[in-house]
Amino acid sequence: MKAYLSDSALSEVDADLVAVTLFEGESLSGALADTPGANDASGDFKFTVTVFPGKPERVVLIGLGSREEFAPERARVVGALAHKALKASKGEALAFMLPEVDDAGAFAAALIEGATFASFEFDRFKTGSDGKEAPPELKTIEIVSELDLAKEVAFGEAIANAGNRARYLQSLPANVATPEYLASRATEIAEAFEKVTVDVLDREGIISAGMGGLEAVAKGGEAVEPRLITLRYTGRNGGEMLGLVGKSVTFDTGGISIKPSAGMHEMKMDMSGGAAVLEAVSAIAALNLEIDLIAVLPSTENMPSGTALKPGDIITQMNGKTVEVTNTDAEGRLILADALVHCARSGADRMVDLATLTGAVLVGLGSTYAALISNDDELADSISAAGDRSGELVWRLPLHDEYKELTKGEITDLVNASAVRKAGTIYAASFLEEFTEGKPWAHLDIAGTAWDTGREYWGKGPTGFGVHLLVALARDLSG
Ligand code: BES
Ligand code: MN
Ligand code: ZN
Repeated sequence: MKAYLSDSALSEVDADLVAVTLFEGESLSGALADTPGANDASGDFKFTVTVFPGKPERVVLIGLGSREEFAPERARVVGALAHKALKASKGEALAFMLPEVDDAGAFAAALIEGATFASFEFDRFKTGSDGKEAPPELKTIEIVSELDLAKEVAFGEAIANAGNRARYLQSLPANVATPEYLASRATEIAEAFEKVTVDVLDREGIISAGMGGLEAVAKGGEAVEPRLITLRYTGRNGGEMLGLVGKSVTFDTGGISIKPSAGMHEMKMDMSGGAAVLEAVSAIAALNLEIDLIAVLPSTENMPSGTALKPGDIITQMNGKTVEVTNTDAEGRLILADALVHCARSGADRMVDLATLTGAVLVGLGSTYAALISNDDELADSISAAGDRSGELVWRLPLHDEYKELTKGEITDLVNASAVRKAGTIYAASFLEEFTEGKPWAHLDIAGTAWDTGREYWGKGPTGFGVHLLVALARDLSG
């Protein structure tokens, strides 16, 4: 999808469908008001009607609700509704007449995101389309406004496309999106941008680096080799370095502590944190943001086998801490622990990790908020603010010594899962905090928000949750 800005008059807009938005209590003006059917239009949020003024041929009128209640999130929903109307008319070029609002830039970007996210389809594995015409797809979005919103339109475009690329990675099955595949995508990003470099460790390299957690989880998979992927982006060259870590378990069976079979196929999405980090880096590089960052993806399958990690096994993480693995299905924290240590020791000053880490976060927050857990109020506040603006909402949960007690081992420094099923999401974060090397750090548990949120613009399936939030955060920290 290409997005661009123009200042055309409505009658001159050359698109398959033009979307015009309406606040509650406002009425249409000009030629549109006289178009048959336009009387039906309403400012009620999400109310949609298509009319045919002639020039342009097709206009969809969409309600925004009351001006007071307006937020960019509503523009994302409206973007998705406009895309639905575009698809119904088999169009490929969409235009939005931007209304007068306070933050027109955020509004424009949100329309682009909503429409583009709604257009996501994962049809790579559908056969039988031979000979048939390719179905129309969203190709361009024109934002019509007299304001200078070029920068915001470029942001919306970069985030929307990166979000859909992350969703594509999430959708790929584990027999395609292997750790090696993710490494090749990282390499592709490094080849596309001069300011990005990549470094990939294989099993041997992981073992030599002392990454005992990643080594242990990867032991079960003999057929699929693990990778430790490190991307660096130098957009400022000096000053603070932001560290990003993304859980990249390409398939989580649970290992020897095996998961029930119902729904297990969805565990191909256990690399959603890594997908979001990868594509956020590609968007940050495409936008040429003035920031330095290092991104780390610990990637492996979690398989049961004759060589697999067993409950009760004791491992040594990269920072020397010992862990009794009481549950092999709590694998994410083991690989993230090493990745955080590696990230900090590679120069990150602050770190943010994204991980589909616990089922407990689904129970606590559902698919509306991701859990945010942090040892640093300033970093946590920046993330909350970026979350609010992006629609990728986060809700902060606490750390406390009493939770930390639960993670302590009897015969080791730590145990990876506790016998008492208390505060599962916080437990996991308390475990991770042991590997932050004293740096400001924030953990986002996206197990509930990475997949099947049912949001208007994401629908069922992958969401790319975190891409926008990370780009927004990088933008705030840049310069
Ligand atoms: N990948 C799962 C968490 C998950 C659950 C992701 C649902 C997406 C949707 C994680 O590795 C896991 O298995 N966590 C366990 C931890 C437990 C064994 C302490 C869980 O939450 O049940
Ligand atoms: Mn697991
Ligand atoms: Zn997992």
